[in-house]
Amino acid sequence: MSDRIHSLSGYIYEYQKSVQAPEQFWARIADGFHWQKPYEKVLSWNFEKPDVKWFEGGQLNITENILDRHLYTRGDQAAIIWEPNDPNEQNLILTYRELHAEVCRFANAMKAQGIEKGDRVIIYMPMVPEAAVAMLACARVGAVHSVVFAGFSASALSDRIIDCQAKMVLTADGNFRGKKSIPVKALVDEALEKCDSITSVITLKRTGEEVNMQAGRDYWWHEVIEGVSSEHKAEVMDAEDMLFILYTSGSTGKPKGVVHTCGGYMVYTYYSFKNVFQYNQGDVYWCTADIGWITGHSYIVYGPLLAGATSIMFEGVPTFPDPGRFWAICEKYKVNQFYTAPTAIRALQAYGTDPIAPYNLSSLKVLGTVGEPINEEAWHWYHDHVGKGKCPIVDTWWQTETGGIMISPLAGVTPTKPAYATMPLPGIQLAVLDNEGQELKGNSVEGNLCIKFPWPSMLRTTYGDHERCKQTYFSSFPGYYFTGDGVKRDEDGYYRILGRVDDVINVSGHRMGTAEVENAINEHPKVIESAVVGYPHEIKGQGIFAYVICDLEGRSEESLTQEIKDTVTKIIGPIAKPDRLLIVSGLPKTRSGKIMRRILRKIASGEGDHLGDISTLLNPEVVTSIQEAVHASKA
Ligand code: WT7
Repeated sequence: MSDRIHSLSGYIYEYQKSVQAPEQFWARIADGFHWQKPYEKVLSWNFEKPDVKWFEGGQLNITENILDRHLYTRGDQAAIIWEPNDPNEQNLILTYRELHAEVCRFANAMKAQGIEKGDRVIIYMPMVPEAAVAMLACARVGAVHSVVFAGFSASALSDRIIDCQAKMVLTADGNFRGKKSIPVKALVDEALEKCDSITSVITLKRTGEEVNMQAGRDYWWHEVIEGVSSEHKAEVMDAEDMLFILYTSGSTGKPKGVVHTCGGYMVYTYYSFKNVFQYNQGDVYWCTADIGWITGHSYIVYGPLLAGATSIMFEGVPTFPDPGRFWAICEKYKVNQFYTAPTAIRALQAYGTDPIAPYNLSSLKVLGTVGEPINEEAWHWYHDHVGKGKCPIVDTWWQTETGGIMISPLAGVTPTKPAYATMPLPGIQLAVLDNEGQELKGNSVEGNLCIKFPWPSMLRTTYGDHERCKQTYFSSFPGYYFTGDGVKRDEDGYYRILGRVDDVINVSGHRMGTAEVENAINEHPKVIESAVVGYPHEIKGQGIFAYVICDLEGRSEESLTQEIKDTVTKIIGPIAKPDRLLIVSGLPKTRSGKIMRRILRKIASGEGDHLGDISTLLNPEVVTSIQEAVHASKA
């Protein structure tokens, strides 16, 4: 398919076409795919309801475009290269032909377990190739997968199972992470105590640890695929049938199930992958994300495999067995495009350049970042020491809800600027709005980042609660999709993301609702009230700062602090554990009883001396006592 942009003028031309005639633009990309039945209408949309449909009437199976379509052209090419946690363990390469066989086999096994089109299947697995096989097998049979990051707790897992009323869980006995091994199946067992929709659990043997197997419910992966055929006729899906649900945090307490559909997601992840990374046949591409996040869905599995790429999947962590691991892997597989998160770059930057020095990184052509704003220092370090000054950096801005990259340079095409995501991809019509909802035209403006026209991979709804989708994304600024981010468009028309403008914080590139963390904290019986805010953190981008009012009777602050942190780990997972937790006597409130987060944010950020006017508070005196507590806790 000749749908790659090669020059800046080509970008400008394609962008203009995509705005003037969006339907023709996307039809041209869509027509490169195999449709079992052609679509009748490219797009119908309404941002009030919201109701967006792409490629209506079209029928397809995304896995035919990932697997069957590539069998004859690149059957023997590596589709997935899997690098294990332990560099001394044997790696694994799955060609397109082998991946096709594995997906079909597992699809048949799932069918045999009673899974049908439309059923929801939870994937709670480590970064092993079977996780990608599981996702594609779901897509093959028309089941809706919902991948839950294996670092989430049993309680977070059960919330998601209950919300989507899943029928099956795909998991593993354990998960190797650096020197540790995490018992995954045991967490599934715990989660399932609270769920009654699950009829079967299929467990992959990975770490070999002891697990409980409940008769009639639990099966081993290797047993269910034994003797099963590796041929499977893909289920016919409507373009707007659900492909997957992925839960993400928002400003309210409960994570939302973001819904993506088959046709549009396929077209956009393919197109954006090819253009942003400028992938050429034969290149080796590596995205370090986890499949538990949207980045893993769109840019480890779907986008690259739709494009017939070779995609690396890495099980481990950047610092095991030492902080040179990323570069060892880049050298080992001669990686051409490398995509990671600013938090990983900053963490590695802290070790200096010695861990990079032994490795030959000359294969690298493109470096990418995603998940959070990248500070200029990290950008330069990445550019100079990893890319040796010759690799363009694509700072890709997007969201779980957008399904694919929205704002990013196209590697080698768009001139970059450190800390800028630069320009929207073709088809993406951005708008910067002031707080009154006025669109700010022209350059040198700052405001709320919105999108005013549909794109193929946008979310369609939030599972089981369409009203919530409308309220969250389409109501703040009627007629627009609101991202929740603040943005600056500079004098050159370049976009720089300024961070969230809602009560969402970004910790190591992971989105965390402050209300969600507060709810978890409040589960501790001694907690009376809490408030959580983000503060600048050198490695994580933002850290989690919790102010907690407790009933201290008979208890030491120290033991309570630890217990409350443990409660959060238990309820959400280690990624939500507060970096700082301060027991306070009160929280600053307005006269109407609203917590003044602005003040708490300033204090957490070390700007407690510049709070401005606090005389309108209901309880200005608590501010002084909080400040004293902060100083005392630092001392
Ligand atoms: C939020 C979305 C999209 C994949 C990973 C995160 C922030 C994402 C960037 C970037 C600045 C970024 C935004 C966004 N974000 N990429 N390149 N520069 N901020 O997905 O968990 O859905 O979070 O991540 O605040 O709204 P997510």
